[in-house]
Amino acid sequence: MILPGSYVRDLLRRAPGENVCARGWVKTRRDGKNVHFIQLNDGSSPTDLQVVVEAGVVPDDVIAKITTGACLSVDGELVASPGKGQSVELKARSLDVHGTADPEHYPLQKKKHNLETLRPLGHLRSRTNTFGAVFRVRNALARAIHNFFQERGFLYVHAPVISASDAEGAGQMFQVTALDLSKPADFAVDFFERRTFLTVSGQLEAEIFALAFANVYTFGPTFRAENSNTPRHLAEFYMIEPEMAFCDLQDNQDLAEAFLKSQVEQVLRDCRPDLEFLSKWYDPELFQNLETLLASKFERITYTDAVALLEKSGRTWEFPVSWGCDLQSEHERYLTEELFKKPVIVTNYPKEIKAFYMRSNDDGKTVAAMDVLVPRIGEIIGGSQREERHDVLREKIQSHQGMNEEAYWWYLELRKYGGVEHAGFGMGFERMMMYLTGMKNIRDVIPFPRTPGNAEF
Ligand code: 4AD
Ligand code: MG
Repeated sequence: MILPGSYVRDLLRRAPGENVCARGWVKTRRDGKNVHFIQLNDGSSPTDLQVVVEAGVVPDDVIAKITTGACLSVDGELVASPGKGQSVELKARSLDVHGTADPEHYPLQKKKHNLETLRPLGHLRSRTNTFGAVFRVRNALARAIHNFFQERGFLYVHAPVISASDAEGAGQMFQVTALDLSKPADFAVDFFERRTFLTVSGQLEAEIFALAFANVYTFGPTFRAENSNTPRHLAEFYMIEPEMAFCDLQDNQDLAEAFLKSQVEQVLRDCRPDLEFLSKWYDPELFQNLETLLASKFERITYTDAVALLEKSGRTWEFPVSWGCDLQSEHERYLTEELFKKPVIVTNYPKEIKAFYMRSNDDGKTVAAMDVLVPRIGEIIGGSQREERHDVLREKIQSHQGMNEEAYWWYLELRKYGGVEHAGFGMGFERMMMYLTGMKNIRDVIPFPRTPGNAEF
């Protein structure tokens, strides 16, 4: 096992003269006169450790096995490096090849691979420089999110993955069953003695906890069986859902803005070399975009104003705009990328296009919803103030097509016993990853993407 202090990241920071053992996978080997240079990495650093093997240290038949993708341990001494980009290199004293990677077959030879050709290589792509950077950022982002909420005293709730209710009321769920599907299904004798699904959102459970712990958040996988083959949709994605008691739509917007800024700030601080790599290869405007988000005060407009702005934009839209229509990606991106050139929070949508749990406004037409839109992505956060009035909520559930009131008995009871004004939102973790890394396809920011027709790895 590699111990703290011995990752490639750590070795690169240590002083010349130390004896160390480096372990990892070979990126490349270059042969000079009487010397071999190996670029070695264990995934901990955007910079490889250069291993120098002088002639005679290792037999030729061992050198021949050190090809791209092979796994090695190297003992030796750190010495000052004459090469640029690193201050030390490892002068090998002895070397073990644990696993070879036949150059005739190993698919990741030294060249730039495009991201599409790497997708069918889900078992190997994490060894590339690009995915090294992406997944280190992903790790740092998860930590940043926990930091943000933990520093504010929020309780981390583990919402269940298996659920009997459709939290979004949108009917896009994967069913969970232990029944033999070759026979007619009787869910009364199924494992849970009812129909169950993979959760689409942990929100309803988070609301239970918010009415006990005041400020809570979930961070877990969520599932949607919508057949959207777009660069921004996954069938399995991670969502972070804070839920706050004593909170209205205004406070909710403030928290969402602070949350996005904090994530950007922390990842810029912790992952700058990875972001520099990603910016160089994938998005030259990455830093400018991230810094704009940090510096800007998010625009806040109502849905009604947004529609008016879209109508007078003079654009022809693929999806025509009028009051009552759902905003499409093209509309969202126009608002945030072209009109305001910064993040925009759109509030108070028509009740017909939003979920049943959102609080009805006094106008009788809109609900206290909010969507946060950012350049390049569009919707990154969706949330609302919740309907806390028992009878209003009950009526909404009853009038919502396909919803069964009995299944929501406990959700309704929360409005009977110690209910209070409360609000929350959900952020798509992978949407945030796209925003932070400049990656253009959501399949390239999650280790093992689940999309229609794809579940190989
Ligand atoms: O807007 P959504 O559907 O809201 C909810 O699920 C609420 N229960 C959240 C809440 O109020 N607690 O989803 C929230 C966010 C979206 O803004 C988007 O970033 C992401 O989740 N998202 C997806 N990301 C990837 N693939 C999909 N199929 C996604 N669907 C939603
Ligand atoms: Mg939404």
